[in-house]
Amino acid sequence: MRVTVFSTKPYDEDYLRSANDGAHDLVFLEMRLTADTAALARGSDAVCAFVNDDLGADVIAELARLGVRLVALRSAGFNHVDLGAAAEHGIAVGRVPAYSPHAVAEHTIALILTLNRKLHRAYNRVREGNFALDGLLGFDLHGKTVGIVGTGQIGGIVARILTGFGCTILATDPDRNPYCLNLGVRYTDLDDLLGHSDIVTMQCPLTPQTRHLIDADAIARMKPGVMVVNTSRGAVIDTAALIAGLKSGTIGSVGLDVYEEEADLFFEDLSQSFIRDDVFARLLTFPNVLVTGHQGFFTHEALTAIARTTLDNIAAFARDGAPVHPVPAPAAG
Ligand code: NAI
Repeated sequence: MRVTVFSTKPYDEDYLRSANDGAHDLVFLEMRLTADTAALARGSDAVCAFVNDDLGADVIAELARLGVRLVALRSAGFNHVDLGAAAEHGIAVGRVPAYSPHAVAEHTIALILTLNRKLHRAYNRVREGNFALDGLLGFDLHGKTVGIVGTGQIGGIVARILTGFGCTILATDPDRNPYCLNLGVRYTDLDDLLGHSDIVTMQCPLTPQTRHLIDADAIARMKPGVMVVNTSRGAVIDTAALIAGLKSGTIGSVGLDVYEEEADLFFEDLSQSFIRDDVFARLLTFPNVLVTGHQGFFTHEALTAIARTTLDNIAAFARDGAPVHPVPAPAAG
């Protein structure tokens, strides 16, 4: 199979080449997949795409026209793919359903600990010879209540780690995870969770139901001074409402690994340029906001598993006409 790999960073190429071991013809491109770059997939049977590639209806139609028959996602999330268009054009979509939920869960905990104990500020202070503690006051995690929105693979591990800290865990999820029930997690509705949690962390996928699940109304129901963390997908939070919550003081601190308009920012070095997104630039002005650029997945173990599963999907498609881990087509109607 010939596969055009979009949004390739050097680390993607290293891990994919090693997993491929010469089996398929991989063409690595740095640019994102968009309506303007889709033509570069000409001659390929498959494209390999990441989270900020555009797989909307127009791009899918163009890929189909070029003869592409498989989209091999290097991600678990598939909210950026128009699955209806893929089904209509007979393009199969494969994904990596689990590569290392530990990577993302541990990054979530890193954000919580850093924000709480203000390590991002302490690091800079100490390097400047400032050993004063004013402004670095945190709280004990022990005894605090954490609300987890979405207790799948990642949310379940977040729950387990925080249970070790002595936190009480509330959760909301249409499906109760037996693993979490065994840990003593109490399932409740979103309102109750928001009203009782000292920390709210988002671990659900982005779907039409979860888009802006955290909006101005939801923020108004949170405990004053709440910490809000999001390592799932940016658009589960309404960023304008988040900023308003920070300005009013309802929200005490925010940790984000994802941002709803991240496609034009993340994974690129913009340090010699400037940030055109005024909303994002405003977020960065708050000392109690910590943003990382979608690095939750970025561990050796996760990159190894992503590459292996992506190549398994491609090999299975070449052999049987279907990836090992297909993204199901949406129900008709
Ligand atoms: P998962 O599918 O195992 O779990 C998601 C859970 O969310 C499920 O239990 C589901 O029932 C629940 N859910 C769905 N709708 C909900 C709603 N309205 N309210 C509450 N819960 C709801 O997925 P996993 O592996 O835990 O990943 C979760 C998300 O994390 C992914 O969809 C992806 O968007 C994001 N992610 C972020 C990464 C990063 O680098 N920051 C890397 C990998 C995933």
